[in-house]
Amino acid sequence: MKDFLSINNYPAELLKELLRMSARLKSLCTVGGKDLCLAGKTLAMLFEKPSLRTRISFQVAMTDLGGNPIYVKPEDIGGIGKREPVKDIARILSRYVDGIMARTFEHNTVVELAQYAKVPVINALTDWLHPCQAMADVLTIQEHCRDYEGVKIAFIGDGNNVARSLAHACSKLHMKMVIASPAGYELDTETIENVNQITADCVRQTNDPGAAVLDADIIYTDTWVSMGQEAEKQKRQADFAGFQVNAELVKSAPANAKIMHCLPAYRGLEITDEVAESPNSIIFDQAENRLHFQRALLKKLMS
Ligand code: CP
Ligand code: NVA
Repeated sequence: MKDFLSINNYPAELLKELLRMSARLKSLCTVGGKDLCLAGKTLAMLFEKPSLRTRISFQVAMTDLGGNPIYVKPEDIGGIGKREPVKDIARILSRYVDGIMARTFEHNTVVELAQYAKVPVINALTDWLHPCQAMADVLTIQEHCRDYEGVKIAFIGDGNNVARSLAHACSKLHMKMVIASPAGYELDTETIENVNQITADCVRQTNDPGAAVLDADIIYTDTWVSMGQEAEKQKRQADFAGFQVNAELVKSAPANAKIMHCLPAYRGLEITDEVAESPNSIIFDQAENRLHFQRALLKKLMS
């Protein structure tokens, strides 16, 4: 596997190996140990959208492994696919660096980068998928629940990039997911059919958030307005009313259900401050695990 574009492209065994590597590297760093497997290697990091977690955690992961991250703002290079074609950027970067990670609007941009690059390409979020997030989420679930297998996730909100990558993870790693979205914002049926073909009945869609959380181990939400959808903000906020993760919704779930959010969280919209700050919230462990998963991913792809 040269690239990491979609969890869907990866066999379950490889995903499990990445999770084991993440846990090992996490405990190594807890005792102050270092794995300098990427000494002398360089990662180019291309971002068309803002980022706190992804940018900093990839930069730190790369540095921790002895490597050198280079952050590239689109305006520095005249835009991705604007000053020159994506396929040229991929081939030129391949002559300079040992890996490329990219956060883009169109999913096809990372696909094209991977197609033309000689070095590994990592998807750091596209409009379609967010695979690094979903894998860090599985690592977090494994730490807080007995295991990830059999865990039930209630995803409340938009059938978006984060929901889609989580659905892929569920089908590969035998977790269950019910997605509660307002009409018109459901996860696409092709994805649902595809994941359920991999593992029967692993992902289900509903329009009823209360029913979705009844037997949930995890209540997960994400913004109603993803990056690039700012023009739809008002309409979306109105359409998602009733899909807030708040104390009342949490009351319908089992008492020990954990709260997850990929962040950034818009408190008072998709989640209340009270729930985000509650003892069952594991949102900061989740954010930390981006670093641990990505360290493993970089080691696997680039060393
Ligand atoms: N969750 C996540 O990807 O956060 P950033 O947009 O800050 O990278
Ligand atoms: N769905 C959100 C995730 C942010 C990490 C977005 O794409 O903006």
